[in-house]
Amino acid sequence: MTRLALLLLLACGGKETDSSPPDPPTDSAPTSPSTGVTTATVPAPALVDPAPAEDLDPAPDAVRIELTAAPHTFEVAGQTVDGWAYNGQVPGPTIRAKVGDTVTVQLTNDLPDPTTIHWHGLHVPWDMDGVVWMQDPIAPGEVFEYRFTLTQTGTFWYHPHFDTERQVDLGLYGAFVVTDPADPVVDEERVLVFDTWAEAEAATVDGAHHHGPDATVRTWTVNGLALPEWTPPTGSVSRLRVLNVSNTGYLHLPSVRQIGGEAGIAAALVDGPLVLGPGDRADLEWTASEPTALTSLPYAAAGGPAWGEPIDLLTVAPAGADIGSAPPAWPTTGAAPTADPGQTDILWVFHGESAAASWMINGEQFPDVTIPQTPLDTDAVVELRNLSAAEHPFHLHGMAFEVLSVDGVAPPHQRIEDTLNLPIGTTARLLIHPRESGDWMAHCHILPHAELGMMTVLRVP
Ligand code: C2O
Ligand code: CU
Repeated sequence: MTRLALLLLLACGGKETDSSPPDPPTDSAPTSPSTGVTTATVPAPALVDPAPAEDLDPAPDAVRIELTAAPHTFEVAGQTVDGWAYNGQVPGPTIRAKVGDTVTVQLTNDLPDPTTIHWHGLHVPWDMDGVVWMQDPIAPGEVFEYRFTLTQTGTFWYHPHFDTERQVDLGLYGAFVVTDPADPVVDEERVLVFDTWAEAEAATVDGAHHHGPDATVRTWTVNGLALPEWTPPTGSVSRLRVLNVSNTGYLHLPSVRQIGGEAGIAAALVDGPLVLGPGDRADLEWTASEPTALTSLPYAAAGGPAWGEPIDLLTVAPAGADIGSAPPAWPTTGAAPTADPGQTDILWVFHGESAAASWMINGEQFPDVTIPQTPLDTDAVVELRNLSAAEHPFHLHGMAFEVLSVDGVAPPHQRIEDTLNLPIGTTARLLIHPRESGDWMAHCHILPHAELGMMTVLRVP
């Protein structure tokens, strides 16, 4: 099957057979009988991680990164995108540091518009959080230095928090990995940044082709590549740091082993299906035993698991003799969840529906919001109720939260997150313990929902 046919299949929701090896590449340039378009047959691109950011500070506990945000033209799934990028790459450079490091990021804004960087999931001082609530963005031509000390380990990311829906969609995002000395060694560690590209759909699908509600079928890319091929050593064990940076697209991985993600290694390993909404991350353990594909089942914000066939995201072609690795001993604690203290300190109810393009929290739309306060260094319980007609990946700045319960059921083990998907009708109870003062944003990470008002503020005086 040709790459073009594969892309068409992807765009049309067709299913590529899960384990059939791709056709060998040929040099022929067949002409499609129906369109007369000449297409080259190209092999699947090899999976490549986003290039890492260079640490310009030789001190062992200090990391200095220089980023320039500027317009950038690049190729995605065979079409040209006039986008924006950090240091001329999409995804932007992966920032890698260890817990305890002091990180300085100098951002030069060579864009025609103001911008900021928000460190999604990292606990940074409020004036380093990249929000424009009572702070100015970085004007075109200006340079700003972000500085903070890393207190957490895990898989995080960075993106603008000004005109966010547009700026992220244009290509401004990157992974931020905080390592822990206790991280076990694996054969390979990969960073997989997933995004969706509506532009590529438009280029390959005629206007009469409908995908059903909420565009459940899209062109997904991994590190900017459509359906790349990963060739780990046969029998190797890898840690995959998976990030969903799509503005609206959900990943629904049918059967994976999740070892952690947003807060480092989880209290317990979780085997099973994984729903990863916009903004969400997970670390997976992957044993490369046989050729397969990482697929996503269709999933729509308007109603969860959706009609359609699985979409291949990445093919896996283990290579070489079996190296017979065993999974490492992940440092799971087995910790039990905290018992729900019972009271509700903050209640946020999500309302809205797409037909009216109206999305609210407690009947209010950002920036016209009532601001609850919660004291520093004190436990508080946040209750979220989703009474709207869509799912919402809830994200809170400035602090992580522990999931106490979802619809009254406590998780089997302690579960720490900064982004939590709320299916329709769900009530989730979260325990927070703020350690930094600030006006912390709380919002849906479906960026058009946030842009249309589904965002509020939590004040920690
Ligand atoms: Cu990833 Cu308020 O953002
Ligand atoms: Cu939402």
